[in-house]
Amino acid sequence: MNMDDVTLYTGECAAIMAEHIRDESVDLVVTSPPYNCRKIYGDFDDMLPWPEYYSWFSKVLKELYRVLVPGGVIAINIPGVVRWQANHRYADTWSDFDPYYKTHRGGKKVIGKGRIEPVGFQIFEMMKQNDSHIREPIIWVKGSEGNAIGGDYRMGCDSDPYMRPAHEFILLGSKSRWFHRGGTGRRGGDAVPFLDETKDVWFITPDRDSRHPAIFPVELPRRLIKLFTHAADSVVLDPFLGLGSSGVAAAELRRSFIGIDINAEYVELSRERIAKVLAQPPLFRLTPGCSGRGLDESEAEQLDLLAAPLNLVN
Ligand SMILES: C[S@@+](CC[C@H](N)C(=O)[O-])C[C@H]1O[C@@H](n2cnc3c(N)ncnc32)[C@H](O)[C@@H]1O
Repeated sequence: MNMDDVTLYTGECAAIMAEHIRDESVDLVVTSPPYNCRKIYGDFDDMLPWPEYYSWFSKVLKELYRVLVPGGVIAINIPGVVRWQANHRYADTWSDFDPYYKTHRGGKKVIGKGRIEPVGFQIFEMMKQNDSHIREPIIWVKGSEGNAIGGDYRMGCDSDPYMRPAHEFILLGSKSRWFHRGGTGRRGGDAVPFLDETKDVWFITPDRDSRHPAIFPVELPRRLIKLFTHAADSVVLDPFLGLGSSGVAAAELRRSFIGIDINAEYVELSRERIAKVLAQPPLFRLTPGCSGRGLDESEAEQLDLLAAPLNLVN
């Protein structure tokens, strides 16, 4: 496998998918969309009225389900809820906005307030509307409290305590059926060997990079790719590429990869990160019955795959 198996686009992902990605050509979508809560992604302004955000995201989801193969999986990293932001430009579009709420803060009168926007729950419902084959969501616990929560996070008051955010979801859905292609269908410990990965709570320390405000750790897409792609020619797609963490995991596991980001600088940084991985020998032994796309002989030798016939049956 080399950079010919990696395709990166700059642009709005729904439009790029409509123009460039064929029906039923992707095995796994691993992604984390903008949460509509003021992260600054270069020029992209992550702040829409919530109904507009959901209507845009439903177009993205429609495209994602279109490009998935039957049995393909969508994995979306998103919090169940995002927290109220008084200075959100469309504060009154939050689902639970209460226009009659009144209080005083720092001598200032505050009128009107929301509390949470259940963005992850809404998106899970939207996934179900696209295809009833939803899967068990995973809770990603974001390390220790110190990692996950800023020291200045306000906890409300004793008559209204807030729950501090220490986790996000990975929402999972399949298209048309639950079995994905390329697996052997075998059960048991050696066929599904990733004990930590098959628990529905994952403890993974978050990652940070000064070049991007919100990346996820490579371990997250790495686990998802190992669990949900087994065909020799599997293709992984991330429509919100960021710094390309999904592409790095796909390259480590020698899966073909398609990435899209609206910000050209992120796309170039992703290209560099992915190329660096592909210049190294593969790090991982692949799961039984599974080869990466385009492994050359020396790579296969390193992975000890030549001794056993490769399962190239999709
Ligand atoms: C939460 S970040 C993804 C980070 C990525 N998972 C990583 O680990 O680097 C969301 C990304 O989506 C991009 N983005 C926002 N709106 C987009 C759109 N309509 N089409 C494509 N990319 C978009 C932003 O530029 C940002 O890099």
